[in-house]
Amino acid sequence: MRNPLFPLLSALLLSPLALAVPSVLVYTYAAGHAHDSIPTAIDVLNHTEIEAQYGVNFTFIQDQLGFNQADLSTFDGVFFISTTGEALDQAGQAAVKTFFQSGGVYTGVHAAADCLYNDTTYGQAVGAWFDYRDSLQNATFTRLNNTHPATQHLPDRWTFMEEVYHLRNDPRDNGATILLSVDQTSFINDGNTTGDYPAIPAPQPIAWYIDSPLPAQPLLEGAPKAGRSFYTSLGHSNETWHDELFIRHVMSGLKWALDGASTRAYGVGIVGNGNGDASTTVGVTSSPPNHQPGVTSYTITSSASAATSTSNTNTIQIAAAASAQSTSMGNAVIMSKCKVQLTGVAVDRVDHDVDGRIRVQI
Ligand SMILES: *[C@@H]1O[C@H](CO)[C@@H](O)[C@H](O)[C@H]1NC(C)=O
Ligand SMILES: *[C@@H]1O[C@H](CO)[C@@H](O)[C@H](O)[C@H]1NC(C)=O
Ligand SMILES: *[C@@H]1O[C@H](CO)[C@@H](O)[C@H](O)[C@H]1NC(C)=O
Ligand SMILES: *[C@@H]1O[C@H](CO)[C@@H](O)[C@H](O)[C@H]1NC(C)=O
Ligand SMILES: *[C@@H]1O[C@H](CO)[C@@H](O)[C@H](O)[C@H]1NC(C)=O
Ligand SMILES: *[C@@H]1O[C@H](CO)[C@@H](O)[C@H](O)[C@H]1NC(C)=O
Ligand SMILES: *[C@@H]1O[C@H](CO)[C@@H](O)[C@H](O)[C@H]1NC(C)=O
Repeated sequence: MRNPLFPLLSALLLSPLALAVPSVLVYTYAAGHAHDSIPTAIDVLNHTEIEAQYGVNFTFIQDQLGFNQADLSTFDGVFFISTTGEALDQAGQAAVKTFFQSGGVYTGVHAAADCLYNDTTYGQAVGAWFDYRDSLQNATFTRLNNTHPATQHLPDRWTFMEEVYHLRNDPRDNGATILLSVDQTSFINDGNTTGDYPAIPAPQPIAWYIDSPLPAQPLLEGAPKAGRSFYTSLGHSNETWHDELFIRHVMSGLKWALDGASTRAYGVGIVGNGNGDASTTVGVTSSPPNHQPGVTSYTITSSASAATSTSNTNTIQIAAAASAQSTSMGNAVIMSKCKVQLTGVAVDRVDHDVDGRIRVQI
């Protein structure tokens, strides 16, 4: 193995490495109609296996009081599942607004678009509000994006028994990019509209993402950028929650949103899990600490499993000889007494701390 650090850093570029496990508040309070799939959803998600698989840490809150008592600033994301009606009171709505302006991430499933109709902030974070649904029947959902993590594993045409949601407004007006639509000929549109809403252009939005949701503006001081939003209108029945394709759709959408790296678990920002330890060493030189004259290249031979940081930058610390000097930086980081090959990785800065550990910032 020539340089085990290289794949570690390559992976960082493809998908931002969480320096601590992102903490996600799963909220399922239904002030209106309560879906009987909510306990199923909790049951499916409440497993360390799924948390480990997707690299998240769930906290389940099922009532308004619990939500208000939670310290949102300790969470990287909020995950609303089939919340209906006035799922949050004024205090909860204000807390969520502050959370979005802090770079906090939003994910919503199914009736999460059927709540808080008077809360413009929430509506813009979801992207659109629910109008009506058709009776439960088979429908064919069509994939509009085959590269997004939430849909890349799905078939182009995905047929199963599900409610087709019709919306009051077009999520594209709130910056959404549509991931899934529905074949209009695959189901009977037998629902009843609740109002006189403008027609929404095809393709009919079923699932989408918003890279920079409007409610994040104005960002609070210290918030690096808006937290992403992901929403899917699927998820009505128990069967759906037992479908592996659906679970991966939802979890990958959530993970994609978190991976926007706008929170503390990613080493930035003012909300999220900041429990990472800045001094954790992720790469260590096998080289003897006593530098041999004439040796210009040491190889990083092992890397620890966790990278953590409490600073405002993604920091990787590599234990190295105390006297190591940085002589150049860029795509290849070359120290006079320690050479680290990082081809293809844009390195912002290289320096070392008082203990002589080399710090690589990317
Ligand atoms: C769905 O699952 C819940 C338990 O999680 C159960 O109480 C409910 O009856 C189920 N609904 C249907 C329609 O089977
Ligand atoms: C999650 O599962 C644990 C047992 O593994 C249980 O104690 C806890 O009550 C569950 N949480 C919820 C919200 O159901
Ligand atoms: C998940 O979060 C809880 C509460 O903050 C914490 O006690 C626990 O250690 C975390 N688990 C992981 C795997 O990070
Ligand atoms: C939402 O706003 C409408 C119009 O102002 C009002 O009639 C309605 O009572 C409000 N609903 C809630 C739940 O606050
Ligand atoms: C699909 O999603 C990716 C983000 O993962 C985005 O860059 C791309 O523009 C999207 N493609 C379409 C056709 O919307
Ligand atoms: C619904 O679609 C599924 C999957 O394609 C199929 O197995 C099932 O027979 C269909 N059910 C009805 C009532 O058409
Ligand atoms: C639409 O309204 C009609 C008449 O009230 C009702 O029979 C039907 O069940 C409604 N459709 C749905 C999907 O709720």
